[in-house]
Amino acid sequence: MSSDLWFLVKGVCVLSKKRILIMASGRGSNMEAILDAVQAGRINGEVVGVISSNPRAQALEKCRKRGIRSVVVDRKSFSTKSTWEEELLAVCSSFEPDLICLAGFMHILSSSFVNRFRGRIMNIHPSLLPSFPGLAAQRQAVEYGVKVSGCTVHFVDEGMDTGPIILQAAVPVKDGDDADTLAARILKEEHKLYPEAVRLFCEDRLRLEGRKVFKL
Ligand code: GAR
Repeated sequence: MSSDLWFLVKGVCVLSKKRILIMASGRGSNMEAILDAVQAGRINGEVVGVISSNPRAQALEKCRKRGIRSVVVDRKSFSTKSTWEEELLAVCSSFEPDLICLAGFMHILSSSFVNRFRGRIMNIHPSLLPSFPGLAAQRQAVEYGVKVSGCTVHFVDEGMDTGPIILQAAVPVKDGDDADTLAARILKEEHKLYPEAVRLFCEDRLRLEGRKVFKL
């Protein structure tokens, strides 16, 4: 049954909990921020599982400690991107997610994957998009000499960090910053921004029109 249903409890409309699937292939700190917000009751959802493309991801150990179901779809075990993605799609679908959160999942998804879940896949990126997409966004910002950077949560499309922007948070870039000090400052904001975007989605408070996202 769709979890998009409102149901009545003692005459009050209640939105059923969204099924959240997280894809995390590295450290997993954004994954933890979402898990913490769910656990604290700030998000009307449940994390039904975590998928990693990397069997050595720290995120997997964090899942084990928290009792979260995790599945590895190892990119290196597949000779082509399309066979890997076919398996990824099958595993994702088996979780019946309402929302997929990419959290340090460093792969560009093809249009067949994106089409299957369009408007229901989010990503977090450590820059103020459309500036500095792709790898090492914090280093790109320091080297360019910008005075302000930040992070962006966006819906995923076929491009690299090009999808409709949901929320952004800015931080200053200080004179003595290197990529690591800036990354640490941005990461603190990421851990607030991503759970907030997930919270809004799970309360049906995001409306996507073309490439614009409106907060209801
Ligand atoms: C985060 O800074 C996230 O914004 C970035 O990878 C890091 C993952 O950290 N993502 C990208 O650069 C995507 N283009 P985490 O595994 O601790 O959440």
